[in-house]
Amino acid sequence: MQVPYSWLRPYLFSLEPECAHNLTFKWLDTLERFNLLKYFVPPTQLFPVKVMGLNFPNPVGLSAGLDKDAAHLNALHRLGFGFIEVGTVTPHPQFGNPQPRIFRLPEKQALINRLGFNNQGIPNLVRNIHESQFSGILGINIGKNANTPLHEATQDYARALREVYALANYVTVNISSPNTKNLRDLQGGDALDTLLACLHDTREMLSDEHGFRRPLALKISPDLDNNQIDAIAERLIHHKFDAVIATNTTLKRVGLENQKNAQETGGLSGAPLRETSVHVIERLYKRLGEDLPIIGVGGILTGDDAREKLQAGAKLVQLYTGLIYQGPSLIGECVQAIKKTKIA
Ligand code: FNR
Repeated sequence: MQVPYSWLRPYLFSLEPECAHNLTFKWLDTLERFNLLKYFVPPTQLFPVKVMGLNFPNPVGLSAGLDKDAAHLNALHRLGFGFIEVGTVTPHPQFGNPQPRIFRLPEKQALINRLGFNNQGIPNLVRNIHESQFSGILGINIGKNANTPLHEATQDYARALREVYALANYVTVNISSPNTKNLRDLQGGDALDTLLACLHDTREMLSDEHGFRRPLALKISPDLDNNQIDAIAERLIHHKFDAVIATNTTLKRVGLENQKNAQETGGLSGAPLRETSVHVIERLYKRLGEDLPIIGVGGILTGDDAREKLQAGAKLVQLYTGLIYQGPSLIGECVQAIKKTKIA
């Protein structure tokens, strides 16, 4: 029995977005607990790929932000993702911005959010991961607390890296959310260098301590110019990072004239982000070639969109807004589209 997501979506879209989010996870967790989710979601085909030294069962992952506290890993695993990135998590719990803080732009298959890293903090995330039965590839996306001054951000990231290191298959350093004041200033100049150097050294230390080396990824914004992208690419190689995730949400509002909610403050995701994100991936690939893998994210709403990211130079892709508009069958559709291109 498979319930088409198109039946559920009108009901979910009649609810306030955060309410719909919470209700969906209630359903998914309940179905998973009674081992019923398999009747609702078709199995995803295998298409193994090796990236950052890790073996992924397929190249389509969940992007950060949907499961900030790693509270739904068992259910998400059943949906067929090749990997799951949880977070953004910060050292201390924080509420984030006042509600409402997520807005739909249905005609454009887009969302605007200004959540502001609402999460329950690292100790809670660590507990959730321990209590889950999740055995797939797990990325943990880390950020700084809103009340940590920018010049002390490095301490928050280093602390977060230490606390999640043993549990993650890779760790993502998120300096590209538009919803934490001035966070994006960390994407260039001395601030970037100081941060990457400190995380490099912390990782070396943790590697020795634990006896294994976890890959580090940097997640960047789509609102960078070519010079800024080139500089980041060069610094990532210099500081021996293992991957770059392109991209986070955008502050731009191109093509959204007369759309309800378009003027809400926050980061825009979904279909209108697709082209910009592809441009950033292409530019990164020009600089990085095969030296450092790119994880492509932003506006994947169809299998073709996923294939386009790979053609631009990405080795893996991630989804978020596409899931809200298309449902979990999008995961399998993307795997199939990528598989077809690679085999052809
Ligand atoms: C996000 N995104 C995000 N990214 C991140 O690194 N940390 C986070 O906490 C969040 N939170 C978040 C919340 C919501 C509601 C959305 C829609 C997005 C960004 C997300 O991971 C992704 O990079 C962008 O949304 C672009 O991909 P899509 O959504 O167009 O597939």
